[in-house]
Amino acid sequence: MNSRRYCVIGYPVKHSFSPKLHNGWFKKNKIKARYVKEEVKPEDLGKFMCGFREKFAGANVTIPHKEKIMKFLDEVTPEAREIGAVNVIVNRGGKLVGHNTDVVGAMAALKSAVKIIKGKRAVVLGAGGAARAVVYGLKKAGAQVVILNRTIENAERLAAEFDCKFGALEDFDAANCDILINTTSVGMWDENSGDYKIQTPLPCHPELVSGSSPQKPVVMDVIYRPKMTRLLKDAKACGCKVVTGEKMFLAQAAESFKLWLR
Ligand code: ATR
Repeated sequence: MNSRRYCVIGYPVKHSFSPKLHNGWFKKNKIKARYVKEEVKPEDLGKFMCGFREKFAGANVTIPHKEKIMKFLDEVTPEAREIGAVNVIVNRGGKLVGHNTDVVGAMAALKSAVKIIKGKRAVVLGAGGAARAVVYGLKKAGAQVVILNRTIENAERLAAEFDCKFGALEDFDAANCDILINTTSVGMWDENSGDYKIQTPLPCHPELVSGSSPQKPVVMDVIYRPKMTRLLKDAKACGCKVVTGEKMFLAQAAESFKLWLR
């Protein structure tokens, strides 16, 4: 086995900044290792994972594989199992172990702007793999969580799992929100079109973010490219404190790096 090869598994994965970041950290720490991108279509995930343990010492897992990847691993940490999503794989002598560092990343980023999360009213936009980690972290920190999603059935399912309220994106009410976190892919950089610059998961903006309440929510986006999504720009223009996805991305990456070198 080439014990020093790592990758990010996703689809699409062209936009990923992970190789640059991890290769930079390997170099800085004088570690002989290489980190590459592996674009794997959902229907090819099983085939790709067949040869994984011989080729790679570890990986990051991203859209849309964070949930499906679990069945190809030998072990999943209790926390990742509870979250229902894995974003890091560690190859421990041929045994593939799944972890979730998105929770630590998301909460570290959020805590840079919100000191006390307990009792806060948090609204999570989206109900996919990224939402799972964010909802888990918020609930564990004692927040009251509402999940809003385009497909209401997906919000309902996730809300039932984590004991939250749920609704449609149109239900967002800034007056009843202290923390707003976007976990949908809306507003993410797209090499084929500039539409991402105007896309926001909130159907009507910026009024929805500003609301009429003098208490403005802290707004965080898990998207890190672009750094300032349309949602964050609108929120900032309304006087909200914003937390970029870059903060979460760097924090989860640092945790992955620690796990691989442990
Ligand atoms: P990830 O693992 O990054 O969370 P995912 O599991 O594919 O990715 O989830 C993507 C999320 O973005 C979902 O909540 C999805 O909403 P649906 O449940 O309705 O599919 C949301 N999403 C994707 N495209 C969207 C769009 N154009 N408008 C609103 N929500 C969207």
